[in-house]
Amino acid sequence: MARHTPSVCNRQPWHVHAYHDNAIKQKLLNLQGGNNGFGHTSDWVLVVTSNLSSFLNVKERFEVYIDGGLFSMSLMYAFQDIGLGTCALNWCAKPSKDKKVRRLIKIAEEEEIIMLIAVGHFNENVQAAYSEKRSISEIITNHE
Ligand SMILES: Cc1cc2nc3c(=O)[nH]c(=O)nc-3n(C[C@H](O)[C@H](O)[C@H](O)COP(=O)(O)O)c2cc1C
Repeated sequence: MARHTPSVCNRQPWHVHAYHDNAIKQKLLNLQGGNNGFGHTSDWVLVVTSNLSSFLNVKERFEVYIDGGLFSMSLMYAFQDIGLGTCALNWCAKPSKDKKVRRLIKIAEEEEIIMLIAVGHFNENVQAAYSEKRSISEIITNHE
């Protein structure tokens, strides 16, 4: 499903590295750091990357994140559709941490990490989380 995400000039720069092994999953979760209390319950940890070599010049410098972000969202909707839960895990990492993960999972230099995604089964006893959202009128300005 997520393969159908639109991308600039249909370049599809994304890649997913999927980890199920507990030891590597936990190392990734520890390095990410924003999943205390729930990260360990995930069945899979995904590292979503987007390839810098798909982009041609400085004017395109943000596309790696835009396409990678759109793809990540599609992937989370796709998991939801097949009954699995996800949590996006930010990769707001210092260069030193980024290097550590690159050493751990050996991704190509031109792959930019967009985010990690924890994937797992819903606990049957847990109801859907409710997150307060801004109103439609707050986020749309109709200029006629
Ligand atoms: C790019 C991105 C990074 C996120 N990083 C984290 C994270 O590190 N840890 C976490 O618990 N949630 C993370 N989240 C989840 C947000 O906290 C969550 O989407 C937000 O609170 C709204 O809740 P909702 O998704 O239930 O609507 C992230 C979400 C996005 C889109």
